[in-house]
This record gives sequence, structure tokens and C-alpha cells, in this order.
Amino acid sequence: MTSSVQQKIDHLREQLRHHEYLYYVLDAPEISDAEYDAIMRDLQALEQKHPELITPDSPSQRVGGKPREGFVKVRHSTPMLSLDNAMGEGELRDFDRRVRGFLKNEPYAYAAELKLDGLSMAVHYRDGKFAQAITRGDGVTGEEVTENARTIRSIPLRIKGQRDIEVRGEVVLTRKGFEKLNAECAAAGLRQFANPRNAAAGSLRVLDPSITASRQLDFFTYFLFERGAPACPSQWESLETLKDLGFKVSLHRKRCQTIDDLVAFCNHWEERRESLGFEIDGVVAKVDSVEQQERLGWTARAPRWAIAYKFAARQAETVLEDITVNVGRTGTLTPTAMLQPVNVGGVTVSRATLHNEDEIDRLGVEIGDTVLLERAGDVIPHVVRVVKPGEHRRKFKMPSHCPVCGGEIVRAEGEAASRCINTNCPARLKESILHFAGRGVMDIDGLGDALVNQLVDHGLVRNIADLYRLTREQLIELERMGKKSAEKLVSNIDASRKQPLPRVLSALGIPFVGERTAQFLADAFGDLDAIAGASEGELQRAEEVGPKVARSIARFFHEKRNRDLVESLRAEGLQFKYERRPAEGGKLAGLTFVLTGTLPSLTREEAKERIEKAGGKVAGSVSRKTNYVVAGEEAGSKLGKANELGVAVIDEAKLVDMLKA
Ligand code: IVH
Repeated sequence: MTSSVQQKIDHLREQLRHHEYLYYVLDAPEISDAEYDAIMRDLQALEQKHPELITPDSPSQRVGGKPREGFVKVRHSTPMLSLDNAMGEGELRDFDRRVRGFLKNEPYAYAAELKLDGLSMAVHYRDGKFAQAITRGDGVTGEEVTENARTIRSIPLRIKGQRDIEVRGEVVLTRKGFEKLNAECAAAGLRQFANPRNAAAGSLRVLDPSITASRQLDFFTYFLFERGAPACPSQWESLETLKDLGFKVSLHRKRCQTIDDLVAFCNHWEERRESLGFEIDGVVAKVDSVEQQERLGWTARAPRWAIAYKFAARQAETVLEDITVNVGRTGTLTPTAMLQPVNVGGVTVSRATLHNEDEIDRLGVEIGDTVLLERAGDVIPHVVRVVKPGEHRRKFKMPSHCPVCGGEIVRAEGEAASRCINTNCPARLKESILHFAGRGVMDIDGLGDALVNQLVDHGLVRNIADLYRLTREQLIELERMGKKSAEKLVSNIDASRKQPLPRVLSALGIPFVGERTAQFLADAFGDLDAIAGASEGELQRAEEVGPKVARSIARFFHEKRNRDLVESLRAEGLQFKYERRPAEGGKLAGLTFVLTGTLPSLTREEAKERIEKAGGKVAGSVSRKTNYVVAGEEAGSKLGKANELGVAVIDEAKLVDMLKA
């Protein structure tokens, strides 16, 4: 009996895979959506009756699993580095001259591909099955987005042959998908995405896979690796192989024998970019032969065998209707141009940054003028010049008092920026809190715009440290705040006390100190007090910290208000000391754990931290790659999954043993 059910299921899955491929990869469907849905329903009905026959690569498993608690960082098999840019034909020819010189005039060709404007991602297949997806991140480590990527229909869940491969490519959102999404955001009163790329990133990097599933993302592939190296002797063959394996590869590619061919390809697509269903911002040219690529090698940041030819920025004219000012977290006032909405290369623009008063003077721009706007890639549009002065033009004047708190505005000598000097300005405080709680900083989920406004406006938070004193009772009083969300928020805030020093450092909002610099500072000093007490000279001991950054750090800790904040945060138990992680070879190096249920003594965060400290990884979901599932009381579906896949299940005591061993 079962075997005939199995056959039916196999047949339905094959049909669905075939039609998904036709629809999502080749853009050439043969059946209607309704017919497809009918087959899917048949499959789902059978699977519901025989849950033991459900496999992770079944087309029914794409719909989006359960939301996760956070992202897990994963190291890439080899770094996902970036490309050097060529602006214009001259620089492209310069690149070609360098390649020719390096290869001492031996023959070579280029694989020319479109430069898709999305975000890059690596997808791993084990035994021919979709196994893991990782965003580019900082190039060395990215975020695991396996469950989200599973919902992208142009990513096959299985490929021909039982190969272990890694595929890299670009996640993009079509223009149509972008417009639809923004229309929905607008209707729901939510903030719209600035461009398809941001929208693609925002759709992939979400904790709830069903959001990704609803966003019509596409994945175009351009690299194929096997055992950590290119799988084919040439890029061109890799692209062909990717296509044969069932991946989506842009149709618009060309093997160019000469630089003139390559220039022609670039010009061709620069003229036709708007005709495509998705955004491109240039052309990527790669020396075709992998053997030649290896000889050309890499510079510190990019391969010598490839270049990104960037298209010229897109421009449009419109009327500057007003100039408003925005108060940032350092109190800086940024004049913003309010524009008559205009389409600039497919994106509607209604605001542009004017940076500061000097910039306004330099442009000679006044309210009412017609201006030329420019948008380059993801860069916020800016005003290039005045095209026609307005008839009733009116000069902009920086306000003398802060539009938010009424505090005095000063512009220090020699500085371009005007600032609100009220350190308690609610606008500054709000921006600081949002930064502090942000993703990749203290990661406090649930602390968004609307809530921060209330917290500050009701006087519940007067400085960042106050966040740690918020109670459930206080929060429940606020608008749109239920008991559950209040509890969750209090616990999220509490959990952030455990964030390691580099996070705390970047959370402080010291100008020029982002995630990377914070990590270098923590590595070099290992202690917040040591950093706060260091001289400008000493600070430069840290990697990538030059005089400018050192001055900014020293200045920050010189200010009494900041030192007070540091003391309050210390009192709240934030991490001021830092133990460097064992780079490789910790006790648990190479092992992946999944935590489930309530452990008897460790919280999940603690268990995670200890595993990571010992060099292990903690993943959010169980797969064949998982080495151990650590199960506590009331372990849920993950335990079932572990048993199904034959993954070892251990308890907390065993984990602690392993940590000690
Ligand atoms: S090759 C080391 N090929 O552009 C090689 N990248 O500027 C790096 N991109 O990070 C990537 N289309 O996100 C490559 N056909 C293509 C691409 C492409 C878009 C993106 C990718 C990369 C960035 C580099």
C-alpha cells in the first residue's frame, strides 16, 4: 500500500518540480496557476495522511516554517569578497591592460554577466539536496537564512546527482514585486522601501520565513563550487552547468574574446537596462579561464581577474518644494530636500539629502528651484545642481532653535554641521535608542519607532540605561502594547545584557565606531575601561584605527555625559570585558548544535554563548548537518526532526561535560 502512495507522492512532486522550474527559472510556464495549485493540494492531502513520507525537499515544504528567534552567524567556506569598480570605458580598458600585462599577452577571454542589484548569498547542497543558505554578511561570516531561502521558488530543493556543491548568486526582487510590496506597505501605513535591493534584503533577512515566502524573490546564480573550488575549468562552463542543474542563470551573458566585445556588451546593456524586469547597476566581467584566474590572484579586497563596470548614475529634474531639517543621534541637523515626486530610473523620489548649509551654499539652491537629481545604486538621491531658479524662490535658513526640542542650534567654527546642543533633546535620544537596540548592535527585538516615541514622550526613558529599568507594568500602560509583548520586550532587553563588548561599543554610537572597528578595539584592549582611558596614540594600536577615529573615541569618553552613561550601563550589568574567541580549534570546533526545550540550569543564551566560546556553532533548525541536538524539558518539533534524521540528542549535563572535556 505504502509503496503505491509513495509512488503517487513521487509523481506529484516530480510534476510540481517540473512546473516550478518552467515558471520560476525559465519564465515559461506551461500550466495555469490554478492547475499548479490543484497538484499541490493533491500532494498536501497525501502528505497529511502520511506525514512519515514528508521530506524536506518536497515542494510542499517551501511555504515557510516557523519564525525563528534570531539569526545564526556562519562562516563562509571561502570569503565572499567584493569587486573593484570601473567607472566608464576608460577604466574598463585600464583593467583589461592590467590583465593583459599579467598574462604576458597569452590569449584569454571574458565571461560578461549582468551585475544584478540585489544581495549575494551562498547556498549549499549536500547529497544533491538543498541544505543551507548564508547571506554574504561581512564576506567572512554571514547569517544563516536557510528557511527563508527555501521559500524562493527559483532555488531548487534538489539537483541532479548526489553532489555536494556550493552555489553563489544574487537575491533580487523584480521591479513588479517591489512595486507591489511598496503599495502594500503604503496601504498598511508602513515605511516604504527605497529601492528593490533594500526590499530584497529586508525580505530575506527576516525571522519569519513566511514573510520571505510572500515577497517574490528570485535567485540568479553566478558561481559554482565543489570542494571549495570552482567546479569547472571556466566561468562560462560553470554558468552552463548551473543552468543544466536547474538553477536560474541570467540569459544575458556573453563570452567576449576581445575588450571591444566587452565594451560593446556593456554599452548594449547600459542602454537597455530599463527593459529588464529587475534592476542592474552594471556588468561584471570575469577572466573566463579558472587557471588564469588563479594566476591573476587577488588583492586584499578583490580579485584581479574580475571587474564591475558600473553604469552612469541616473538623473532626473524636479522642483524643490521645501527644505526641512532632521535631527540625528549626534544632534546634527540635516537639511532634507522635499521634492515634487519624480521617477528616477524606476524609483519614485520625493526627498533628497542636502547634507549641510555649506552644500546648500555651494549649490546655490533655493526653495522653488528646478533641480537636477541623481541616484546612483543604493545611494540616497542627491541634488546635482540648479537647472532653473524658481520665480518666487526663497532662501533656506537653518533654524536657530531645534524643531524638536526648541533647544539652541549652534554651528561650531570650522565644522559644516549645525547641532542641537541640548543633550537631552528627545530627537537625539530617540535616534540613539533606535541605534542602540538595532539589529547587529544590541539586537533588542520589538523596540521600534513607534514604541521609542512613546517611551521618550512619556518620560519613561531619559537616557539609554533607563531601558534596563523598564518594567512590564510600565509597558502595558502604553498604546498598542499587550501583556505578552511587554513581557517579551522586558526579556529581550534583559537578554541584551549578555551582548559581548564589541556590540556594547558599537551601541554607544561613537562617531566612526561601527561593528568592525568595535571588534578591533575589543580585540586590542579587551576591556571597555581600557578603551575609555586610552590616549589617542594608544587607541591607534587597534587595527584600522587611525588618527581620525582615535580622536573621535577619545572625545567621546572625554565628555562627562558619556562617562555617566557608561557608568549607568556598568551598573546595569552590561559586558565591559571581552575574552577573545578561540579562532579555530576550540573544544567544540566544527560541531553544530541545535537547542530545544528548557534546559535545567542554563538559559538558551548562556548555552549558546558557551558553545560558541568553545568554537562550536548553534543553528536554529535541525538538519543533516547538525551534530547534536541539546534537548531540555518540553522539547518540541526539533526533537522529532532529530530522531527522524538520526541526529544525536544529548542533555545539558552531557553538553557541560563536552565543554569541560
Ligand atoms: S561576482 C569575487 N557576478 O556585485 C567575486 N557579482 O560588486 C564577487 N553581483 O558582491 C562577485 N551580479 O553582490 C558577481 N554576475 C555577478 C554579479 C555580482 C551582481 C554583486 C555581488 C557582489 C557585488 C560586487
